[in-house]
Amino acid sequence: MNFNLTEEQLMIRDTARQFAEEELLPGVIDRDELEEFPHEQIRKMGELGFMGMMVPEQWGGSGLDAISYVLAMTEISKIDASAAVVMSVNNSLVCWGLNEFGSTLQKEKYLKPLASGQKLGAFALSEPNAGSDASNQATVAVRNGENWVINGAKNWITNGQNADLYLVFASTDKVNKSHGISCFVVEKNAPGFSVLKKERKLGIRGSDTCSLGFTDVVVHQSAMIGKEGDGFRIAMQSLDGGRIGIASQALGIAKGALERALNYSKERKQFGQEISNFQAIQWKLAEMAMQTDAAELLIMRAASMKDEHKKYSRESAMCKLYASRNAVQVALEAIQIHGGYGYVKEYHVERMLRDAKITEIYEGTSEVQHIVIARDLIKNGY
Ligand code: CAA
Repeated sequence: MNFNLTEEQLMIRDTARQFAEEELLPGVIDRDELEEFPHEQIRKMGELGFMGMMVPEQWGGSGLDAISYVLAMTEISKIDASAAVVMSVNNSLVCWGLNEFGSTLQKEKYLKPLASGQKLGAFALSEPNAGSDASNQATVAVRNGENWVINGAKNWITNGQNADLYLVFASTDKVNKSHGISCFVVEKNAPGFSVLKKERKLGIRGSDTCSLGFTDVVVHQSAMIGKEGDGFRIAMQSLDGGRIGIASQALGIAKGALERALNYSKERKQFGQEISNFQAIQWKLAEMAMQTDAAELLIMRAASMKDEHKKYSRESAMCKLYASRNAVQVALEAIQIHGGYGYVKEYHVERMLRDAKITEIYEGTSEVQHIVIARDLIKNGY
């Protein structure tokens, strides 16, 4: 693994940092309070090439590597984890799968507008009874001539009401369980498709999380991504990459909280001196920095392996598990260092704690990450 970032990677990081500070920071507290989607900011992120970072330029993307994606995701997440999850889902769960498994026609029709930021995508896998047990799909797609008719419900769908295109997973052959799931693109205006409910959440309140309904939604065979029965594999491989994105989100939250705590500790005076002089605070800062660096190294390893086209399921599960746990711990400690100020909105760290918690849940809970790591260890050794 190369620890030196290229000129291009440094430029991506700096562009994302500047954008986050100038365009995301000013309204982040209000968007959280009002549960407001960052429409204008996401549009600008599309213009900067952040919505299809790893998609080849030919298909509207930026043609960058996974390391660049990690760097940009981290910078955006330091300031606004809600905008970051919108970006993450579009990049790693929607564009990646379309680029990897889509036909030329599908890339032209669906991938180009998504990767260039003209349209937004959502990934509709989870259901009321298919969360961790993702292959237990109750949504069905039944063949009718050249078409498929989809019926069912999805929930916890990021970008649920703001997306234009949905990657929808449905059972096309109940008997074959995980091998009987297929993946379709459903457009928002498809008759029978509806957004059922927008959730009211603890954190990432600037992003929308919705349940979706499908009542006799008809899609043409040409909207199937990959082959019939490929859906579960497409979902799992997309989630391998998605978990790097969410780990980067967690890393950004941790870095943001650590930077704020560090700055505050150097300004805040008690007992006649800066609180950074006290060993109790120093130990906290040292732990926070060490764990955050460890999370970053795990993420960079997984991203490098992805860039080298190696199998990286175990490594992406490890980095998500570690980085998400660390984000919660660092945000908690950042509040503690801020004392009472950490408990109020102006100081940002209370939001960072609320935003951090979801990184231990979505794109596979911490318990699921343990399963992925352990199964791989048992099968392939350490
Ligand atoms: N890559 C390729 N293939 C894979 C794979 C991977 N990473 N993981 C599993 N598969 C294959 C297996 O090899 C297996 O194929 P064979 O039968 O041919 O061997 C098949 O898929 C079934 O695999 P498992 O037997 O391991 O499946 P399982 O039912 O035991 O489930 C699981 C395993 C890891 C628990 C999986 O269900 C899982 O990851 N669950 C969590 C789902 C999740 O992350 N949901 C997040 C929703 S998206 C979201 O949160 C997005 C958002 O909006 C932010």
